[in-house]
Amino acid sequence: MNVFIVYAHPSGDSFTRRIRDRFIEGLEHAGHCYTLSDLYRMNFRTDMDEDEYRREAYYRLEDPVPEDVRREQENINRSDAIVFMYPVFWSDVPAKLKGWFDRVWTYGFAYGPQNDGRRSMKQLEKGLVICSAGNTLDYFRETGLLESMERIMLNDRLHDRVKTRELVILEATSRENSSREENWDRHLDRVFSLAVNI
Ligand SMILES: Cc1cc2nc3c(=O)[nH]c(=O)nc-3n(C[C@H](O)[C@H](O)[C@H](O)COP(=O)(O)O)c2cc1C
Repeated sequence: MNVFIVYAHPSGDSFTRRIRDRFIEGLEHAGHCYTLSDLYRMNFRTDMDEDEYRREAYYRLEDPVPEDVRREQENINRSDAIVFMYPVFWSDVPAKLKGWFDRVWTYGFAYGPQNDGRRSMKQLEKGLVICSAGNTLDYFRETGLLESMERIMLNDRLHDRVKTRELVILEATSRENSSREENWDRHLDRVFSLAVNI
């Protein structure tokens, strides 16, 4: 499989970074290829400019997309699977990744008319979302937040752009949580196996 990893964490010294590195080890172990977009490291611009907004809001297919957006779209179309890795910030993706969706999921690429060939994003085999979270899974279930995160990431952002979709929350990983270290190995093993079996 060719796997495109879209990674968003502001710090190199983080649990999420360890998870990312372990996931990559799993991919390499299984002989998968990967491309990585490290959004903070790339300083990926997340605010739309006015030209981009007009292209999207007025459905102007003929307007070109910016170069950095085009590169991300090419990465997607060269891949079989897309993997998003990030820490949950305020029950959603970090703003850096939200901006990536705003800019990269363009009209004519990720949405818009499909039957006349004007939606150029390839349908990927798999979409995998791996996020770290300070709260427990029980908390996410009890509060309904798990359902809302699944709906937004899987049913809306990924939707039919991928054939199979999965959201994995690595729970209780914030520094205030005493079980952060206890959960560490279990989470690392899990992502390794997710990578091998992607
Ligand atoms: C700005 C900010 C907002 C966060 N919001 C949430 C949240 O809404 N829910 C949650 O479970 N964890 C939240 N966290 C915790 C992170 O998702 C994450 O699990 C934890 O920081 C992982 O550790 P790492 O930064 O070492 O990778 C937040 C952390 C930050 C810095």
